Amino acid sequence: GRARGSEAPSGGGYGGVVSSRTTAAHEAARRRTFAVISHPDAGKSTLTEALALHARAITSAGAVHGKGDRRGVTSDWMAMEQARGISVTSAVLQFDYRDNVLNLLDTPGHADFSEDTYRVLAAVDCAVMLIDAAKGLEEQTRKLFDVCRHRGVPVITFVNKWDRPGREALELMDEIEREFRLRPTPVTWPIGIAGEMRGTLDARDPDAALRYTRAPGGEKAAAEERLDAATAREVFGDDYDRAVEELELLTETGGGHDPEDFLAGRSTPVFFGAALSNIGVRVLLDAVVDLAPPPAARRLADGGERPVDAEFSGLVFKMQANMDPSHRDRIAFLRVCSGVFERGMTVTRAASGRPFATKYAHSVFGQDRTSVELAYPGDVVGLVNAAQLRVGDTLHTGKRVEFPPMPTFAPEHFAIVRPTDIAKSKQFRRGIAQLDEEGVVQVLVSDIRGEQAPVLAAVGPMQFDVVRHRMEHEFSSPVRLEMLPYHLARATDPAGGEALNRSRLVHGEAMLRVKDKVTLALFPSRWHVGSFEREFPDSPLEPLIAAH
Ligand code: G4P
Repeated sequence: GRARGSEAPSGGGYGGVVSSRTTAAHEAARRRTFAVISHPDAGKSTLTEALALHARAITSAGAVHGKGDRRGVTSDWMAMEQARGISVTSAVLQFDYRDNVLNLLDTPGHADFSEDTYRVLAAVDCAVMLIDAAKGLEEQTRKLFDVCRHRGVPVITFVNKWDRPGREALELMDEIEREFRLRPTPVTWPIGIAGEMRGTLDARDPDAALRYTRAPGGEKAAAEERLDAATAREVFGDDYDRAVEELELLTETGGGHDPEDFLAGRSTPVFFGAALSNIGVRVLLDAVVDLAPPPAARRLADGGERPVDAEFSGLVFKMQANMDPSHRDRIAFLRVCSGVFERGMTVTRAASGRPFATKYAHSVFGQDRTSVELAYPGDVVGLVNAAQLRVGDTLHTGKRVEFPPMPTFAPEHFAIVRPTDIAKSKQFRRGIAQLDEEGVVQVLVSDIRGEQAPVLAAVGPMQFDVVRHRMEHEFSSPVRLEMLPYHLARATDPAGGEALNRSRLVHGEAMLRVKDKVTLALFPSRWHVGSFEREFPDSPLEPLIAAH
C-alpha cells in the first residue's frame, strides 16, 4: 500500500470540545513554523542540516538533503519522482527543541525556484534570512524578502560564512538598512573580522560572550564556550574592544532588538555565524524559539479572524502532481491554522462546500512519507489523492470559513505555448485551462497573438518543465514552447496595455492574465520600464508582488 501506518482511528476521539480547544492552544503556543530565505549557495542546506542536527532530529549530516546527488539535475523532485514513482519530498522538517516543536519549511531554490517557493512563505510565521558574509544581499534574497514584507512575515537575519573572508559587519548592516528599509538590531556581534572569527558578543548580556574553537581540519563542529566580560576582554584583546565599540555604535543609532518593531517588519534581529562549523547555530535555534512568533489568529477573507483554538481549519499552500502516469495523484500541502487535525476526519473544502476525506494524510518531511495521526496549528500535513483541491484552498470543519486567496506572484519567464498536434486542440485547451486553475503556471492571452497562442508565465523555468510533462502525459497533447524575450512584468490598466502594444518606441507587450483579469505589461528589462514611463507618464505601472 502507498499509505503506510494504521487505519484512521475510529469514532472522533477528540475527548470533548473543551479539551480539544485547550490542546490546540497549548500545542500552537509551543510551535514555531519558519523558512530560510536565501540566494543559492549562501548555505541553506548546510544550515538546515546544522539546525536539525543540533536539535538531534537526524543522526548524521547529509541525511536531510543529499545535496551531492542533486547538482545539475533540472529539478530535484522531478528526478526523484521519476526514479521512485512516488511523491517524495522534504518539504518540511519537524524537530523538537527545548520544549518546542519547530517546523522548518523548505523554500526550493536553484533550478527548483518557482512560484511554489513564494507560496511557502504564506505558510510560515517567520523567516530566517541567510546572508553570505562575502556577498551580502543577493537577487533571490531580495525577491523572497519582498514577499515576506508583503505578507507581514517577520525576518531574523543570520550572516553566514563568517569563517571565511568577507565584508565588514557594519557595511552589511548598512546594506540591510538601506536596501530593505529594515533596521538591523544585532543580537550577536562577531569578535574578529570575517575569516578570523573567534567568538561573538551578546547584545543582551555582556557576560555571555561566546568563544568558538574549531577542530583542526575545519569539518567538525566548533566547540562553544561562554565567557564573562572580563575573561572575554583578556582572551580576545583588541578584537573584543573593537567589537564592543561597533556594537555600541549600532545600538546608539538604531536601538536594540524591539519585539514590536520586529513583528511589524520594521527591524530584524541579526546573528553571526558559520553553519558549516556549527558556529552560531545553537544561538539561532534559541532565537527562533525565543523571538519568532507562534502560530496566531489568522485573518479571514471576510475581515474576521480565526483564532488558533477555533475548530479545525487549514490552508493549502502548495500542490504537487505526481509525475508518474500510473500514479496520477496530487499531494496537497496543508498548513494547519486552527484546531486539531486528526487523520481520517472529514473536512469541508470552503470553495465548493464539498467534503474531503483525509484518510491519507502524511507528514511530509524527511526521506519518506509516514502517516500523520494528529497535527496542530503551525504543522504541515500532506494530503494524498487531493485532485479536487487547489492552491489557496481553505479546509475546515464546522461553520464555513475562508482565508484570503493566495496571491499570484511576479512572473519572470514567458513562453508561447502551442500544441504540436493541432488535431489535439481540445485536449490542449482543457489541459492549459486546468494547469492555470491549479496554479502550475499563469496563463496570459493577448489581442495580438489570439486565443490560439496563449502565453505561459512563470516565476521559475521549472514550471515550464512541469507543463510540458503534464500536457503530454496527462492531457495527451504534447506542446511546443517558444520563449519570449521578456523578464519583467508590471500591472497596468487596459488603456496602458493598449498604448504599450501600439507603441513603436517601447519594447514590450501587454497581455491579460486569465485568472484575475489583470493587464500585465511585459518588458525585457527595467530599462524598458523607464522608457514606457517616459512615453506614457499617465499610464499606471504597478509592481507585482516580488517584482524586482
Ligand atoms: P545552498 O543550500 O544555500 O545552496 O548552500 P549550501 O548549503 O549547499 O552551501 C553552499 C556552499 O557553501 C557549500 O560548499 C557549503 O559547504 C558552503 N558553506 C555553507 N555554510 C558555510 C559556512 O558557514 N562556511 C563556509 N566556509 N562554507 C559554508 P560547496 O563547496 O559549494 O559544496 P559542498 O561540496 O561542500 O557541498
